[in-house]
This record gives sequence, C-alpha cells and structure tokens, in this order.
Amino acid sequence: MRLLYCLLLVGAAGLLSSGQPGNEAASEKRVSDLLRRMTLEEKVAMLAGAGWMETVAHPRLGIPAIKMADGPMGVRSWLGTSAATSAAAKPITSTAFPSGIAMAATWDPELVQREGKTIGQEAKALGRDMLLGPTVNIARAPLWGRNFEGYGEDPYLAARLAVAYIRGVQGEGVIATVKHFAANNEEYERHRIDEKIDERALQEIYFPAFQAAVREAGVRAVMNAYNKVNGLYCAENPHLLADVLRKQWGFQGFVVSDWGSTYSTVGTVNAGMDLEMPGGEAMRTWLVRPKTKEDGNGCGFLTPEKVLPEVKAGRISVATVDEHVGRMLRAMFAMGLFDKPKTGGGAVDTPEQRAVAREAATQGIVLLKNAGNALPLDTGKLRSVAVIGPNAAVARTGGGGSSQVRPNYAVTPLDAIKERAGGRVRVEYALGVTMEGEDAKDNPRLREEAVALAKKSDAAVLVVGYAPTLESEGFDRKTLNLPAGQDELIRAVAAANKNTLVVVNAGSPVAIPWIGQAPAVLDMWYGGQEGGHGIAAVLFGDANPAGKLPVTFPKEMKDSPAYGHYPGENLRVEYAEGIYVGYRHFDTRNIEPLFPFGHGLSYTTFGYGGLQITPGSPVRVSFQVRNTGSRAGAEVAQLYLHQAKAGVDRPAKELKGFRKLVLKPGEAQTVTLTLDRSAMSYYSPAKKAWVAEPGTFEVTVGASSRDLRLRGNFELR
Ligand code: BGC
Repeated sequence: MRLLYCLLLVGAAGLLSSGQPGNEAASEKRVSDLLRRMTLEEKVAMLAGAGWMETVAHPRLGIPAIKMADGPMGVRSWLGTSAATSAAAKPITSTAFPSGIAMAATWDPELVQREGKTIGQEAKALGRDMLLGPTVNIARAPLWGRNFEGYGEDPYLAARLAVAYIRGVQGEGVIATVKHFAANNEEYERHRIDEKIDERALQEIYFPAFQAAVREAGVRAVMNAYNKVNGLYCAENPHLLADVLRKQWGFQGFVVSDWGSTYSTVGTVNAGMDLEMPGGEAMRTWLVRPKTKEDGNGCGFLTPEKVLPEVKAGRISVATVDEHVGRMLRAMFAMGLFDKPKTGGGAVDTPEQRAVAREAATQGIVLLKNAGNALPLDTGKLRSVAVIGPNAAVARTGGGGSSQVRPNYAVTPLDAIKERAGGRVRVEYALGVTMEGEDAKDNPRLREEAVALAKKSDAAVLVVGYAPTLESEGFDRKTLNLPAGQDELIRAVAAANKNTLVVVNAGSPVAIPWIGQAPAVLDMWYGGQEGGHGIAAVLFGDANPAGKLPVTFPKEMKDSPAYGHYPGENLRVEYAEGIYVGYRHFDTRNIEPLFPFGHGLSYTTFGYGGLQITPGSPVRVSFQVRNTGSRAGAEVAQLYLHQAKAGVDRPAKELKGFRKLVLKPGEAQTVTLTLDRSAMSYYSPAKKAWVAEPGTFEVTVGASSRDLRLRGNFELR
C-alpha cells in the first residue's frame, strides 16, 4: 500500500511538473489531467483552506498547499497572528516597507515595482507562495482606518501603482492578491454594511485599479471585500465576480475570500468565489461558532460538510466545482508551485532590501509648506534642535491590523536626527503629549517641558500624527484632527520658537488648524523601518523632497466629498457623491482644499513649457520640464483631462498621465504622454459600456491638480 502511494506520488509529480511560469498552454493540459484524476471529495476539499494561511494539499496527486502571507507592506509573519496558531511559534521578521499611501506619494511605478520584487523575494525566501496584497481600495473618506494601506483617492494613480507592485511580486514567482474587491472604503461595520453605489462610480472610481491588476498585470488572485455592494455580500455577488471580473475583464485567476467574509454555501459557490479562508482547525478555533449574516464575520460555509450535500442535491454542479478547483490549479501551475518549493532560496532583510525600503521612505515624504525656505536645516548655522512629539522617539512603521510587519529594526526620527546632526548640533527631546492609553490627553504640564526646550533651541522639529492603535484596520478614525491635544502642543511650541518644523506621521489627511503658525510642514506617512532615516535626510537636505499628495487634504470634515453620507446608518451607506471623489469633488464644486491632490514642494523649482498636442490615436502630449533652481531634484509632472460639453456630467479634471523626472540644476527634459480612447471615456450604465464622446478635450499639465502651468486642447472626432 505504502509502495503504491509512493509510486503514485512520484508519477503524479513527474506528470504534472509544469514548465516555466507563464507557460499557460502546458498548464492548461495539466489542469484538465489533474481534474480528471481527482475525486469529487478531493475537489470539494480544496474550496476551503486547511488552516490560517494554507490551502488543502493532496499528496496522493502531488498537489501542494498554497502557503500565504499577509502584505502589502512586506511579508507579515503568519505565525502567532491569530488565536489559531501556536503561541510558542516564533514570529517571522522581514523588511517593513512604507505604507501604501507613502508608496503612492512617490508617484513612482518603477520604485513600487522594485518594492514588489523585493517583497516577492522575501516571500519566496520564507517559503510562501502567495502574498495578500496590494490593497487598492480608494480613499473615499479621510477617516477610513485603512487609508494608509491603499494608494489614495485617484483611480488612475492607484491603477498604475497596483500594476507595478503586482509585476514585481509575480515576477518572483509569488502569487499577488489584489484586495479588497470591491469598495472596502470604511471599516465601520465592515462585516455588515450595505453600500449603495451606482454603476458609473463603481466603473470609474472603484474598479479601475482592479481592472488594471487583472488586464495589465495578470494578477493571479483577487480577494473579495467584507462589505455588501448593492445588497449582496461581495463573496456571493455574481455582478462583481461573474459579470465584471470574469466576463468584462477576462480574469483567469482565483478569488479568495477575505478572512471571514462568506455567509452562504450555494450562493457563494455559484457566484464564482473560489476559495474560502481561513479553514480547517484554524477556522474552527477562530470562529468559536459559525457566525451568521446578522453577526457578520462569516466563515465555515465552504467546508466539505456544507458543499457535498449541495452537490448531491444538484444545487451546485460538478462543473462549477471543477471551475473553482481548475482556477486554483491553473494559477499554481502558472506560478511554478508544482515545480519549485519556495523554501530555501534567497534571504530576508539584506542590505539591498533595506536600501529599497530606505529609498521608498525618503521618496514618499511630501513637503507641504516651506515658508521662507525654513528647510532644509543648515548645519553650518544650527547649534541646537529640540525634537518634540509623540511620534519622535518611536518608529511608527505602519498602521494597525493585518498589514503590520515585524522588522528586525526600525529607525525612529529622533535617532536618525541625532545620527545626522553628529557632534556639532545638540539634539534634545521632549515627548510633549502622550497619544495612547490612559495618559492620552492634552496635559498642559508634559507641554511646558516641550515649550521650555523649544525656547532654548535654534529650531524645533515636532513629529506628530497617529499610531497603529488609533489608525487601523477594524475601525475608522474618529476625527480629522490630530489626537490627544497635539494641535495645542504645536501651537505652544510654534509660539515659543519661530523656527518650528512640523512632521506629520499618519496614514491619511489630518486637519492642520495651526498652518499659519508653522513655517514648514511635512508628511512622512508611515515610512516603514527606514522612515526615520528618510525624514532626517529630507530635514537636513541630503535628499530633496519629491513626494506628491495622493489624497486631497480638506480644511475640515464637512468639505470632504463623503461628508453627510459616511459612514452610513442602519447598516446602509449611500455613495451619494457618485464619481465626485477626492479632487473631482473639490475642483468641480469649487471648494478650496487645505492642500490639493498632487501637491508637494521641493528645495528647487521647476519650469514648464513647450506644450504640443498631436492628434491621432493615441493623442500625443509633449512638454518640457526644467529645473530652474540650484539643487538637483525630482518633479512629478501631471496631466489632467476635461471634457466641458458631454452628454453626461464630467469632473472638472481627471488625472490621465504623469511622469517623475530627476533633473540637475538647469537641466530640461521633454516628456511625452499618450492618451488613448479609454482616457477620454466615461462609463455609461445605460449602454453598459465605456463611451468616448466626440468633442473638445482640455489638457492641463502642471505640478499639482491646482498648480497647472500649461493648457491646450484637442478634438475627438
Ligand atoms: C484583512 C485582509 C487580510 C486578511 C488575512 C483580513 O482581516 O481584511 O486584508 O489579508 O485579514 O489576514
């Protein structure tokens, strides 16, 4: 018997061994071979996971488990992350990259692709086959607890970066998972909320990053969202999974449920959701009892005990089961899971990997304000710096929740500032306020110490913001303001020292009511393990800031597009603003933001000129950008499009192209961007199609959505 088992194993492995990843035709034959050999029970067993982060393996047939790890900001330890895993297991450490929003602020697909590649290498080295990232949900409301994970408010920018990240990860033979499909834009009641979203908003705002992930990057896995969209949970939503994902976009990979997002057996299987996670003992321990739609956080509906009777009763067909299993096998063959065990190759947290994290942390920093060239700090003149604030002496590498990576080390802003200042400049520290726990309140006395320190110093660097306990997956932020009296702290310090430089470390916009009092303000988002080095490099001018905002900073909550219909009530939320999300809302409705989308200053200046628009298919837009200042620096040139007269309402402007340029002083480069019909189209729910309507299109080019330097137009005939 044992001999027979061994022979079968060897035979199956030999027969099924696929060629290179991407060899789709060969994989296809192997998928059908394998499906023919599997029993119904074996197939059904694959519809639910075997544990917290693994799928069911079938050694009899040489089918390995898919071993997963969370992302997207690095490879998250899959050990000790849940009640279901052994407390004794030693958690895995890996490189902690900056948050998604920080990566979005780089506007640099090449860098994001290198980040994805590095994460792919680490996943492989740690023996994982699949990474649960990127997160591409749109920043609809500034209080969403997971804004830090995503790529901001604009679908075009999010799409470009999603494609880059996925190419990086999958190029290493690791399955990437674009998540959460669709419209997971708030944590409030995320397991039960029903979102009413019109089809045009879905197609134009909430879908494009997923569509690009499927069509351009060939992503192998899509994770469904927890929430309902238009009355149906995403896991059992045929419109999302069958019509859009598979029919419209031609998705060939498999859909994995978010952890605890399934609520039915027949509905879920027949809608096209392939793999329920978690599964096995992990699921049973985690759930305590299977939950219902009313409780939220459902799971345990795709177990063999639930699925097999439905197949026998004819409510789920064998052909449907074959489709689900086939999709998983196809991805596994294509990514080489049958051929190459992922364990044992490569290393984690190497100097090269750390260097990518450091570059990303630096490039994502946005200089919001720099009155009188308060920055960079001049070490020739400076004798003392006061470093103040609840985010100064602690490394806030990311927000809270499943994306949290455990790095081997993390550099705090205080340590990096001290290291950079060297012996010549005295660096002293005061906490100012406590942000977390019992002491999290505005304490006039932990302020006095900070003010006294600021008074006797040449400059004060305040590092403020949020923390993973206050900005996280699982709940939304309560307010746009900084917590725990940080606004008062900043005002007091700024009154004591006119050279007060404020660094915000948070994953989403914050209100800045003290903007008139601080000469310089920066946003470092959550910069990963190298965030401290990044901010020190920018403060001292070793790096020239190049980040641009991937989200609009509103002056106050009531200006934000979702205001009045966020987070919803009675378990329903209406996306009443439709397509007017982010700057589409501010610019079309003439609302002055605090800082516009695309904004970000540099220590040098850039001039724009020579706009040329060449009609054709595609339309070619070229222009010149010149570094007109005295330092080398990078500029992100942005192209926006507008159609004034159309059969439907169109936003005042929409981002349709960008390019990051590194320029020496005096250097100029010509940029050519192309616009195809999809850039000009809107989605017509009536026609169920994208429509490019003939007429005049206005092209604007500039340094932000509100700093437009060049204008022209073309006719679409
Ligand atoms: C999150 C996912 C994550 C999964 C597994 C869920 O709570 O929403 O993004 O991948 O957990 O940890």
